[in-house]
Amino acid sequence: MSNNVRPETMERITTPELANAFIEEKIAELREQIGNKKVLLALSGGVDSSVVAALLIKAVGKQLVCVHVNHGLLRKGEPEQVVEVFRGQMDANLIYVDAVDRFLNKLEGVAEPEKKRKIIGAEFIRVFEEEARKLEGIDFLAQGTIYPDILESGPVKAHHNVGGLPDDFKFELVEPLKLLFKDEVRAVGDALGLPKNMVYRQPFPGPGLGVRCIGAITRDRLEAVRESDAILREEFAKNGLEGKVWQYFTIVPDFKSTGVIDGKRSYDWPVIIRAVNTRDAMTATVEDVPFALLQHITQRITSEVKGVNRVLYDLTPKPTGTIEWE
Ligand code: XMP
Repeated sequence: MSNNVRPETMERITTPELANAFIEEKIAELREQIGNKKVLLALSGGVDSSVVAALLIKAVGKQLVCVHVNHGLLRKGEPEQVVEVFRGQMDANLIYVDAVDRFLNKLEGVAEPEKKRKIIGAEFIRVFEEEARKLEGIDFLAQGTIYPDILESGPVKAHHNVGGLPDDFKFELVEPLKLLFKDEVRAVGDALGLPKNMVYRQPFPGPGLGVRCIGAITRDRLEAVRESDAILREEFAKNGLEGKVWQYFTIVPDFKSTGVIDGKRSYDWPVIIRAVNTRDAMTATVEDVPFALLQHITQRITSEVKGVNRVLYDLTPKPTGTIEWE
């Protein structure tokens, strides 16, 4: 356990020089640990797994096998970016698994939030296990565990392990970031040359858009979540709010309301916008988004997103509202 405790003497990685020193040291350690064997990594495209991947590519190149599972609940453009950055730019050994139908079929008709989370988590392990079984001669499993996961502080659920793999997998763990705080992981990612939008990305829950498509997920409502989220992110980036607001996203509830489009009555879904600031996700305040920007985003969402006729802004701090809606 002692190597899971950050030594008091460990300097905080706050500069590119310190990040480069960390990278050099880790590369030597990883080469020593891994030798000429193979390492497997579940690469979600989030900050932590992306930094682990980039570090391991530098250390052991094609001995790293990355598996990216597209479960259909990722944000617009994310699976494509993972393939482009890791296969295209870094020449990684990357297996892309299109598991969209499989996840959405399993989730069909399931409305209870914790049940949805369990299904998504369990199915993820199953898909990963199947891919792992197809591979031969893998001795190591890399994970993007970071120090807050070990401390288990706050309500942000640890999501960095593929714990739950059957016992016959006798992988040795490789966790190069396990003593780093998030800002240090970002500094290392920057120094490794990962794209800024990957390194400074806002927190994204493991179950992804699945908990933002309220109740039983349907493909059309899920697309409305994905498209409205993309518009919100684009407008926040254009207007200087990206990197300033801690977390922002859209939600599509499972009820409709009346509206009017081109003189005809409509009966469609609302989109709810959430934009919050927090230190530790235990409490949160609502971002004071300029009203004109909210109006512009509303106009774009109602005209560009299919099946949506209304946009609401959630003014509720935490408490009493949680950050997510389920
Ligand atoms: P709440 O909604 O509890 O969210 O105020 C606090 C933070 O945790 C994230 N969150 C999750 N992260 N798996 C995750 O990896 C989950 O099931 C999950 N649920 C909530 C949420 O996005 C916010 O940052």
